[in-house]
Amino acid sequence: MKNKKGPSLHPSSLIPHPLLRVFCAVEAPSEVRERAAAHAARLRERFKEVRAGWPRAESLHLTLKFLGEIEEARAAMLSAAAARAAEKSGPFELTIEGAGAFPPRGAPRVLWLGVNDSSGGLARLHSLLEAECAGSGFKREERPFHPHLTLARLRAPQGARALAQFHEETGFEAATFRAWELVVMLSELGPGGSRYTPLSRHRLGARQSF
Ligand code: 2AM
Repeated sequence: MKNKKGPSLHPSSLIPHPLLRVFCAVEAPSEVRERAAAHAARLRERFKEVRAGWPRAESLHLTLKFLGEIEEARAAMLSAAAARAAEKSGPFELTIEGAGAFPPRGAPRVLWLGVNDSSGGLARLHSLLEAECAGSGFKREERPFHPHLTLARLRAPQGARALAQFHEETGFEAATFRAWELVVMLSELGPGGSRYTPLSRHRLGARQSF
């Protein structure tokens, strides 16, 4: 007998697929994270009344590509794309320097620490990753790449400008480190802020993932 209800669905499309919120990043080393955390603690202490989210020091990272929510099977494809990009890249030096806020006009929403990619290694890794991801069917990022470490997300305009000004004036003493690894990270939103867990790690310049 013919099915009069229209095209039937394959049983697998009826099973809900858990979605993972993922992004690719380079983690900051512990010395940078500790110094950034000390800087953030000074700001928090002085501007207690400003409503803001302060990412956990241990999770300070610079994002190369934010994918949003994707299916688990796609996350495995993302890790494979990240592995290929990492292998084609090599380790490089980065300097964390400069302190600023975004947007520059109006109430600031993000306090950031700047990234100086003088060797161009980060920009190269970013474009390798975009190319590998596009090859696996992931959407290319349209916006230009502005690498940064997010120190705080400001939730209300009250006091935000003064806090941003103090952050910029205090500044951040430059810290140079060698980036060795590209990480595919899982982001889980929770009441205490986002929790980040590495899904896979990819050594730069080597065929080695773990
Ligand atoms: P941010 O540091 O500038 O906030 C995890 O959320 C990481 O992905 C953060 O580092 C965040 O950048 C980055 N990201 C980029 N685009 C995003 C988006 N549309 N929503 C959430 N996070 C995004």
